[in-house]
Amino acid sequence: MTETRDDAWKRLALHPDPTLAELFDADDGRLSKLSSRIELAEGGILFDWSKTHLTDGLLGDFEKLAEAADFAGMRARLFAGEVVNPTENRAAEHSALRGVGKATSVEEADALRARMLAMVDAIHDGALGEVRHLIHVGIGGSALGPALAVDALAREDAKVDVHVVSNIDGVALEEAFAACDPATTLIAVASKTFTTIETMTNAQSALTWLSESGVDDPGGRVIALTAAPEKAVEWGVDETRVLPFAESVGGRYSLWSSIGFPIAVAIGSAGFLEMLDGAARMDEHFRDTDGRANLPLRAAFADLFYSRIRGAQTRAVFAYDERLRMLPDYLQQLEMESNGKSVTVDGEPSGPTAPITWGGVGTDAQHAVFQLLHQGTHLVPIDFIASIEAGDALDPAHHRILLMNCFAQGAALMAGKTSDDPARFYPGNRPSATILADDIDPATFGALIAFYEHRTFAAAVLLDINPFDQFGVELGKEIAKKIERGGESFDPSTEALLKVAGLGE
Ligand code: F6P
Repeated sequence: MTETRDDAWKRLALHPDPTLAELFDADDGRLSKLSSRIELAEGGILFDWSKTHLTDGLLGDFEKLAEAADFAGMRARLFAGEVVNPTENRAAEHSALRGVGKATSVEEADALRARMLAMVDAIHDGALGEVRHLIHVGIGGSALGPALAVDALAREDAKVDVHVVSNIDGVALEEAFAACDPATTLIAVASKTFTTIETMTNAQSALTWLSESGVDDPGGRVIALTAAPEKAVEWGVDETRVLPFAESVGGRYSLWSSIGFPIAVAIGSAGFLEMLDGAARMDEHFRDTDGRANLPLRAAFADLFYSRIRGAQTRAVFAYDERLRMLPDYLQQLEMESNGKSVTVDGEPSGPTAPITWGGVGTDAQHAVFQLLHQGTHLVPIDFIASIEAGDALDPAHHRILLMNCFAQGAALMAGKTSDDPARFYPGNRPSATILADDIDPATFGALIAFYEHRTFAAAVLLDINPFDQFGVELGKEIAKKIERGGESFDPSTEALLKVAGLGE
């Protein structure tokens, strides 16, 4: 008889509960089973999941869950460009942007990328005059990926100084204006739909800034990055400066498309292509590897073990690398907008889905939030991310201390420490995973982000939820519109707030 998802979950809940120390003691081969490297064109990344509670038995039962969930079939549909987002009747073709996917989609992505990179190269060659700054306006997936990538990869020798502005709060845009010379600034308007109120308002204000600063032809300084090119043209962007991408690319998966224009502007076309290549290597690994050896799938097994079986409500990510300081913000959208759902694909209650993703930068976070991680009452599985190669050129002591602290935290969380004094007692047995890249370069960065994308997808398949829609963000937008239109009444608290702020009738 074929096993159902329910049977698999029931069996997973019955496993014994050894400590991490017991797991290491019981199995000499634990490290080699749960710590593996992916090799890229140059360098690679080590993924060490040995300090999680995954066991051979759990992995076997999670593999059965994957079978019951038709993980292989769903993955094949993802890469074949079939509909995997049933509520919106769409494919999710971010991997095609990296050259891995349905042939026609890869071909289309190649052509659109060639067009974008031609524009980038032309800018670098001076075709638009002197360009020293780029203000990129976008929000959510149209901002977080570019902001993270530029911050991670364009610290030294950035070809152009990029400012990503997302918030509708004008303070954010004013900060960018203060840092840029209008005569040498381009404006990129990034919006999949080209309707998002924050982005369109910021774009309009950026245009006004250029024109009030005496820039000739401000409209000629605007480049649109969108899946709705006709709307960009309608808004006033010349067709030659509209860089489209496919509708089948989701917003939070779009940094590989023309939404990544500021990345290529900052690091150059060659670096952008290396980033795609790194991601493609992870795509191939995810597509071609079965069971526990599949790194994103194995990570999803651990994620679901903690969230579904052990009841963890949060998951933390600490980048022990300043270059990746924006990673937790990026992952919050990727994981929470994708898997923060409460119904299955068939509309039934799903049970617990994505935990809350949060995190920060090491070592800063050690001196702020790690108290709770070591001695608090919450179970918080952690990802530590670090790079062997330093991002700085200072005394190597900096990087050595950074890495030693990263590894010390994982060791301390696992080992704990006994004490007769309850206040000084560390329970230990607290799980963490460590991702150790050789360096943070475009290829390792691409592979790392693709790893998280596939991990999110794998978790969704096992949970039987749709990771590619986000209807939960709509209601607030609708109510904001109603408030703007006026004539509607709301709950007494909201009415009173509107009145006090001078927005009500
Ligand atoms: O409101 C959420 C959302 O739709 C995200 O999914 C998306 O990344 C963001 O808004 C921005 O949307 P757009 O790129 O269409 O402006």
